[in-house]
Amino acid sequence: MSSSGKKVCFMTGATGILGSEIALSVAGQGYTVVFTYNSSEEKAAQTLEKIRWISSESQMVRCDVSKHSDIVGAFAAFRQQFDRLDLLIASASNFYSTPLPEVTEKDWDNLIDTNLKGTFFTLQEAVKIMQKQLFTTRIITMSDISAHLIWRNFAPYSVAKAGIQHLTKIFAKTYAPGILVNSIAPGTITINPEKEMDTEEEMIKKIPLKRLGDPLDIIKTITFLLESDYITGQVISVDGGRILQ
Ligand SMILES: NC(=O)c1ccc[n+]([C@@H]2O[C@H](COP(=O)([O-])OP(=O)(O)OC[C@H]3O[C@@H](n4cnc5c(N)ncnc54)[C@H](OP(=O)(O)O)[C@@H]3O)[C@@H](O)[C@H]2O)c1
Repeated sequence: MSSSGKKVCFMTGATGILGSEIALSVAGQGYTVVFTYNSSEEKAAQTLEKIRWISSESQMVRCDVSKHSDIVGAFAAFRQQFDRLDLLIASASNFYSTPLPEVTEKDWDNLIDTNLKGTFFTLQEAVKIMQKQLFTTRIITMSDISAHLIWRNFAPYSVAKAGIQHLTKIFAKTYAPGILVNSIAPGTITINPEKEMDTEEEMIKKIPLKRLGDPLDIIKTITFLLESDYITGQVISVDGGRILQ
């Protein structure tokens, strides 16, 4: 059981390109970080090694968020070792192109279960711990500006992200005033040429602030939410104005 008195963050998806930077930054802001990974064990071990330089009690746990039993198991393991939960960041996600006429049942289940069902049951387990605590706690979900855009090649993913934004509001209203629940909707921060439909140049043309995002843009927003006491149920787009188009 943690006795250091440090704040504790549980984070899913900390092996992601953006997720690993977020986890490191949260550790740097004084949190012990317990994070999940699914398939990237080596990346998880590397991330943990870096995090432990600044936050020695941090831990990693394998969890497939598309499975309810894995989420329950990860939180049971968490409760055995830690006596407080200050912050949840629900970042686990999968993402690939699914042109509308070709979406299979497997694609639908895979994208909805990982993004939407996984986020729901992660939040459900976290609030069981948080609502018993007598201090203010925070939940940040990671959604996407695609929740507001009409992307015909990403229907299951963007519908799942829209669902995450709505869940964020339901949890915010239900668990106020003790738990502040907000969502960050990034625009394009990292590019995976195998998954993107547009080139970098084409993407930048659609962004009023004329550059792609940087992980630091998301980290600054998380830091802002960690310092805010009067914001809940909001979706903050960090997208260089992309959504205005
Ligand atoms: N990066 C961007 O430009 C961007 C833009 C818009 C929104 N976002 C959102 O921001 C968040 C962080 O993005 P990112 O760049 O870090 O994403 P990423 O690089 O695609 O990483 C995805 C993360 O989710 C985990 N994951 C995937 N399937 C899982 C499953 N079934 N169970 C548990 N974990 C699973 C992966 O773990 P393993 O590798 O261990 O399997 C990894 O840690 C995501 O929610 C993403 O949708 C990112």
